[in-house]
Amino acid sequence: MFPQRVTLVDVGPRDGLQNEKQAVSAAHKVELVHRLQAAGLREIEVTSFVSPKWVPQMADNAEVMAGVQRQPGVRYSVLVPNMKGLEAALPTRPDEIVVFGAASEAFSQRNINCSIEESIERFRPVVEAARAQGIKVRGAVSCALGCPYQGEVSPDEVERVVRLMKDIGVQHVGIADTIGVGTPRRVQAVMERALKHYPIAEVSGHFHDTYGQAIGNVYACLEMGIHTFDASVAGLGGCPYAKGATGNVATEDVVFLLHGLGIETGIDLDRLVDAGKFISDVLGRKPVSRVANAVLSR
Ligand code: HMG
Ligand code: MG
Repeated sequence: MFPQRVTLVDVGPRDGLQNEKQAVSAAHKVELVHRLQAAGLREIEVTSFVSPKWVPQMADNAEVMAGVQRQPGVRYSVLVPNMKGLEAALPTRPDEIVVFGAASEAFSQRNINCSIEESIERFRPVVEAARAQGIKVRGAVSCALGCPYQGEVSPDEVERVVRLMKDIGVQHVGIADTIGVGTPRRVQAVMERALKHYPIAEVSGHFHDTYGQAIGNVYACLEMGIHTFDASVAGLGGCPYAKGATGNVATEDVVFLLHGLGIETGIDLDRLVDAGKFISDVLGRKPVSRVANAVLSR
């Protein structure tokens, strides 16, 4: 049964901009967050507290968090890979943190420089410390539908990491198709594994659109009643450690689908398109979102 309401987490400022070759100023990132909240987004992934040597685009994390004028009812999240990241993130007062692991060993090594098991041991004190401060912890499981280094990834491999995250107290699990190779039935099979360990309100989908399957995969999740998705305004994004992977499913495209199905999002599509146009102008290109381009050419 379809949900009546869906929560979209816009990951554009983080997932979208972490992979940009050109520098984007902190002021532009802050303005993007402001435009997203003005469009009705209630969950925004703002930045990440990772090594600036690994991901220089997120080196301005504290400056961006400090620049955001917070709106009541909006939740601001940041990625944190280890205690050092948490220590840097805490003074910036995130509402949520995201620890990020992978279902494939090879990707774990390339992305966060450790094995899956080591990553869980790094996350354990992070989760404990964050929760002690009343900060919600989400977990992302990368390569849940395929890995750029290992190739196929089985639902068993995904479920193992989901279970490990649950064991250390991660409160929400995001199933991520890092390279966009998932198709609807396979996505449903993986989601079923996540739902064995987490309630439906604490399972979300994060679909990169590399092969054009993301919107179909969102629909497949809606059929299961899943009602939380990450999406990226203007279809921004990619992962620096997944070569060739394109952006997340565009928030505009998901909103158009959901509103067409009569599902509430609280998001104003026109204002969202404006937010996407704003950041696309900064980057000097057209939005990737089909819906945005259709709206802009009306
Ligand atoms: P490491 O080299 O193993 O860490 O990196 P280390 O503990 O050995 O420290 C090495 C150096 O990094 C030291 O500095 C530390 O201080 C520093 P040095 O002494 O050499 O000057 N360091 C840090 N600096 C700032 N913040 C930190 C931090 N930690 C250590 N938190 C680490 C491990 C995880 C830090 C590194 O591998 C890293 O930063 N990786 C980046 C990963 C990343 O951001 N990937 C993209 C986001 S994930 C993603 O996009 C997927 C997702 O969207 C879902 C999907 O689509 O799949 C979520
Ligand atoms: Mg991603």
